[in-house]
Amino acid sequence: MNQKGVYVVNVIKRYLVGNWKMNQTQEEIRAFFATFKNLVSGITTTNHETWIAPQFVHIPLVHSLFFPNGQVGAQNCSHKEKGAFTGDVSAKALKDIDAHFVIIGHSERRAIFKEDPLLLREKIQVALANKLKIIFCIGETLKERENGDALRIVGEQLNISLNGVASSSEIETEILLAYEPVWAIGTGRTATPEQAQEMHAYIRKLLQEQLKLNSALLPILYGGSVTPENIDALLQQPDINGALVGGASLKANDFAKLFASAAAVQQPHSGGKRINN
Ligand code: 13P
Repeated sequence: MNQKGVYVVNVIKRYLVGNWKMNQTQEEIRAFFATFKNLVSGITTTNHETWIAPQFVHIPLVHSLFFPNGQVGAQNCSHKEKGAFTGDVSAKALKDIDAHFVIIGHSERRAIFKEDPLLLREKIQVALANKLKIIFCIGETLKERENGDALRIVGEQLNISLNGVASSSEIETEILLAYEPVWAIGTGRTATPEQAQEMHAYIRKLLQEQLKLNSALLPILYGGSVTPENIDALLQQPDINGALVGGASLKANDFAKLFASAAAVQQPHSGGKRINN
């Protein structure tokens, strides 16, 4: 309740995030924004943010074309502050070129580059120290789901990387989570809205009960074969606060449709509860 005796409901923003992975040239990026901006110019939105993570070298270009309507960030950062780590990119350098956020723990980094939960924990610490927002990704493989281990695996990923990594308030305000089942990434096989909602609700409960965080307002995004055709049903779920999109974020037409869907969601969510206004 505020000073005037009116109940104030904090609402989680809706996030649409494009993860461009190792794609795009400068020319393609310019063409993307020319089309995208044209397509979304008439759409008004108050409660939704759009972020894009291009390759490191394209961050300044995307920033110049997208800011202030959208935010730009990175797909990864070093686990160390600075020093002799040839080929790595520091969180400090990202902040220095106006990156707003960094994706940490993407399953491609975990699987291909063998990044384990303790290393990811260090990355989270260094990103927070450099005032970058973080999208922390978690998710199970197909085998783990088929073995009935999905909840346990995701719980472990959260516990090891997040438990005590920073103050509660920092985690609550600076970190967004992205549930990305590995079997849904780049496969065209999206989790059903029910499967995603079940995991998102579990994540929110685990954050609250095990990590003692106020998770009601912590954004939890879904990622894995999100398209203009399936985003609406996903965003209708009470614990899904946005989408982390790979393939469809590379096409200006599709990304504009996703933008329209994210902007159009009528009822904001608050920690799993619908607010009827
Ligand atoms: P796709 O949308 O191509 O399945 O990729 C999802 C993803 O990995 C986003 O981080």
